[in-house]
Amino acid sequence: MIERLLSTLPSSLRLLLRRLYYLPSDLLYHLTAGADSLVPPKSMTGMVGGGGFEKVGREFMGYFIELGGLRPDDRVLDVGCGVGRMAIPLTEYLSPKGGYWGFDIIAREIRWCRTHITPQFGHFHFRHVDIYNRHYNPRGTVRPRDFRFPYEDDFFDFVFLTSVFTHMLPGDVAHYLDEIARVLKVGGRCMATFFVLNEESKALIRAGRSTLPFRYEVEGCLTLSTRDPEAAVAYEEEAVFALLSAAGLRLSPPIHYGSWCGRENFLSYQDIVVAVKEAPVPSGAAVA
Ligand SMILES: C[S@@+](CC[C@H](N)C(=O)[O-])C[C@H]1O[C@@H](n2cnc3c(N)ncnc32)[C@H](O)[C@@H]1O
Repeated sequence: MIERLLSTLPSSLRLLLRRLYYLPSDLLYHLTAGADSLVPPKSMTGMVGGGGFEKVGREFMGYFIELGGLRPDDRVLDVGCGVGRMAIPLTEYLSPKGGYWGFDIIAREIRWCRTHITPQFGHFHFRHVDIYNRHYNPRGTVRPRDFRFPYEDDFFDFVFLTSVFTHMLPGDVAHYLDEIARVLKVGGRCMATFFVLNEESKALIRAGRSTLPFRYEVEGCLTLSTRDPEAAVAYEEEAVFALLSAAGLRLSPPIHYGSWCGRENFLSYQDIVVAVKEAPVPSGAAVA
């Protein structure tokens, strides 16, 4: 409820009011939770949507394994990892033969992950990058479309983004997909959530059944507000296909549609897309 209210405010006011609202529970947290606690303070878990912080983390770990083919020895990249909602359950699954790398644009959340997760699980690495996002980091100094991921080519087996492309605009998503394709091994998988616009979801939005009434066009996608477009961003299904294919990522169907728009048959809340990095076409190969 409070998060829904806060999400309607301009970024800087929202960030300030959230800190004030959660101040008493944060103080209690710092007095009672030990450095080995794997439960972050409420002021941070409140930022990552509903459904229960721990429950959603476990739900998605299941999807990574069942839909994305994640294996315990994989090298994994969590783009926009936040305060470790996915990393925390993965500490029980990923072995030090592979490892976990996560980055995010909110310094405080990365600090929490580095002081609570890495000391207990040395194969979990977290990094802060000061990237601009009008909703999450309005003072960020780097444009997402100028950011080179700080990892070698062909390094990861599995890359995921949960509720991150749902907060990014098309030029930035296109660049991130290029970077994902660069750091993935050939045959490596990318799993990402989107709000996909197709006949069904658009009809439900028109009928007033969607939890998110996307209506304002920004850079060819739909948002909830022009003042704060990155609060939530929806993409035409064809645009998702085109973005993946331009990056050399092949969609692994089906798209696992979510309940966000009010549909009755769904897997999760957001739509889940899995794609595979194709082998590059050898130069000089004939094109049919
Ligand atoms: C709804 S939260 C989801 C966090 C996390 N993925 C999870 O599922 O718990 C959206 C996250 O995307 C991050 N984010 C937004 N734009 C980003 C960008 N350009 N690069 C990396 N992270 C970004 C935000 O800082 C925020 O942590």
